[in-house]
Amino acid sequence: MSDKPGPKAPEQDIVLRVNDLHTYFYTDLGISRALNGVSFDIPVGKVMGVVGESGCGKSVTALSIMRLLPKSSKIIKGDITYFRRPQHNGSAGASDQIKQKSENGQQGFWIDENAGKVQEIRLNDLDPMGPEMRHIRGAELAMIFQEPMTSLNPVYTIGDQISETIMLHQRVNKAEGLRRAIDILEKVGMSNPKLIVGNYPHQLSGGMRQRAMIAMGLSCHPAVLFADEPTTALDVTTEAQILDLMRDLQAQFGTTIVFITHNLGVVAQMCDSVSVMYLGRIIEQTSVDEIFYNPKHPYTSALLNSIPHIGSRSKERLQPIRGVVPDPYSKIVGCPFHPRCNAFMPGKCDKAMPAQTVISPGHNVRCFLYSDEVEE
Ligand SMILES: Nc1ncnc2c1ncn2[C@@H]1O[C@H](COP(=O)(O)OP(=O)(O)OP(=O)(O)O)[C@@H](O)[C@H]1O
Ligand SMILES: [Mg+2]
Repeated sequence: MSDKPGPKAPEQDIVLRVNDLHTYFYTDLGISRALNGVSFDIPVGKVMGVVGESGCGKSVTALSIMRLLPKSSKIIKGDITYFRRPQHNGSAGASDQIKQKSENGQQGFWIDENAGKVQEIRLNDLDPMGPEMRHIRGAELAMIFQEPMTSLNPVYTIGDQISETIMLHQRVNKAEGLRRAIDILEKVGMSNPKLIVGNYPHQLSGGMRQRAMIAMGLSCHPAVLFADEPTTALDVTTEAQILDLMRDLQAQFGTTIVFITHNLGVVAQMCDSVSVMYLGRIIEQTSVDEIFYNPKHPYTSALLNSIPHIGSRSKERLQPIRGVVPDPYSKIVGCPFHPRCNAFMPGKCDKAMPAQTVISPGHNVRCFLYSDEVEE
């Protein structure tokens, strides 16, 4: 089973390619099929939104790419390819890895003659805790989590935590690490960063902790930043400030961002393209304009109808999507959305899985309303 993404952009424009990714959890209740063939390309310097109801596999997609999955889970199929740009090649950390590898006689992972070229690295072949992946994580691919307290260490100061990341990946001394930490805290709009570096996470408000997380994520100027619901826990004013800040930083550093959110308003504000997920698959992928003005999949339309939008009359009722996302332990025959779908075609949607179809350039959808093609 695989999603076939639309026409592939030339590789020089892509920073990350995920192809037919299957990630399962092995639990006492059985096998939870969290991802069932996720495919997408992320172009360099763009913001891709990932939306879908709770439990659709948004976080598991990011954690699979970051190789941060818990031990109970496994990538059972598929490829994750990271296209490393020259500016990320030959960074201090990478050079050290070359040295380390050649000293113990193993084949070099970072090859000097590749400096200046785009390197193709299959992340799923790397040991999640090995030196290569540990270098890539943090320095080249970074993640901001929904709840900062899960990733900020309560017993270290903010300054220690950010400077440690910088020291680890950029080989600078502690004083320089701290100076850069203050600098990045200032960039993320933290007032009085010189004081903040001496604070522990519990001494900061939720919005300040979120800014500290963003600072940590951006401190090594990663190629790709995964932002998993980075503002959901915040009040709307702080949320708006943080989103503005992320947009500014994205423009300044050219960072590619994968923005995971429930909030389609945030998608409209932040993203260039959108992937809509349902039960471990991407069911529609297109530009942000197309999603709002020309949605194709009944699930995407249902998501849009369930949120208020400008221009809707005040007495107009929002339409929640009926039913719930099925649990990932069950195996649904046919399109996984058919039990909840207003356009359900008996004998068709409950018999086979629709294939991912390109309906216009850059717009893919997985639905029998647009094509009879069945996924093998
Ligand atoms: N540690 C785990 N053990 C078993 N199943 C898990 C585990 N983590 C995630 N899953 C399952 O994988 C599926 C996808 O979960 P995921 O966290 O990616 O959803 P999500 O789209 O990020 O949802 P939310 O919007 O609530 O954050 C869910 O059905 C979930 O139950
Ligand atoms: Mg999640």
